[in-house]
Amino acid sequence: MPSRSYSPLDPSDETMPVTSSDKSLPETIDDLQQALEAASLGSDQETETFRIRYLGQKNGILTNLFKRIQEVPKEQRRVVGQQLNALKQQAETRLQEAQARLRRDTRQDGRALDLTLPGRRTITGSTHPLTQTLHAITRIFERLGFTVADGPEIEDDWHNFTALNFPPDHPARDMQDTLFIEASQGGEGGVMLRTHTSPVQIRAMMANKPPFRLIAPGRVYRNETITYKSYCLFHQVEGLVVDEGVTMADLKHVLFTFARAFFGDDVTLRFRPSFFPFTEPSAELDIWWPLPDHPDGGRWMEILGSGMVDPNVLEAVGIDAERYTGYAFGMGVERPAMLRYGIDDIRIFYENDIRFLEQF
Ligand code: PHE
Repeated sequence: MPSRSYSPLDPSDETMPVTSSDKSLPETIDDLQQALEAASLGSDQETETFRIRYLGQKNGILTNLFKRIQEVPKEQRRVVGQQLNALKQQAETRLQEAQARLRRDTRQDGRALDLTLPGRRTITGSTHPLTQTLHAITRIFERLGFTVADGPEIEDDWHNFTALNFPPDHPARDMQDTLFIEASQGGEGGVMLRTHTSPVQIRAMMANKPPFRLIAPGRVYRNETITYKSYCLFHQVEGLVVDEGVTMADLKHVLFTFARAFFGDDVTLRFRPSFFPFTEPSAELDIWWPLPDHPDGGRWMEILGSGMVDPNVLEAVGIDAERYTGYAFGMGVERPAMLRYGIDDIRIFYENDIRFLEQF
């Protein structure tokens, strides 16, 4: 059977697949099938070339083969027709798949996806600078054997004032300083936002028996005029140690050890007498903060209040003040944080400005 008559291929076209005009039709179909499978369809241009070459209306190889089906002997036409249909199917499927794949790979702006581009940086959050400072303070005291205690931010008068030996007419109970939730009656009673973390001392001593060696970090609230250095809420870290034979020397040692760990070994410290209703004697700890532009070369800054727990406080919570002594301290967190990070306005801690927070 001469195959020449229905060879679809133009031998003068060098881009045509490897089929020769003197091959039989089954051989031609075979070659064509291999050529279809081997064709590269990696770009829009390649798929378009493929479409025109094989399926083109005017001169596509497959289209031309169909036109010549008449030349096939009648008894073979059915089989050859089926083979050609299968081949055309195959070419169309390959083409559609390649086009779909290329569309997937193409972004909306029309550029192909570049897998070699570096990945996007993931933005991780960070803890608030006050939280970081609280953690730093807490870690130092944990190394000194302190555990962490907790208490409510809404307090009653007894825990916040009375048990801490505040007299009924103490000015701190005044509306000026305390944010009341329920007003007090004649100087006593009432519910308030705690004005300090000292009520956690009372709660801890009520809940357990001595010895105690704990800190209590948390938020406190005061009805103060808001300025660059004071805000209506701030943080404190309370400390309480109660045991037999605890002295002022223990207090001073722990506070100096803390201050050197937090501010650096070369920090200059001053232990200055003071007064609190719940400690006797009382002292405040100041650090010397060097300021090159200051006439004195720097200034003293108060960082905490402290003292020996007043026997009245121990008695209020049912601890034998003859047997046990203790010390307590309470420090602000905002001021050390401001010194640590060079921040000059307390209000920025509470503004949630992402440009500020992102820096930590
Ligand atoms: N509660 C005091 C304050 O808020 C600080 C303090 C705590 C002082 C414990 C002595 C002992 O200023």
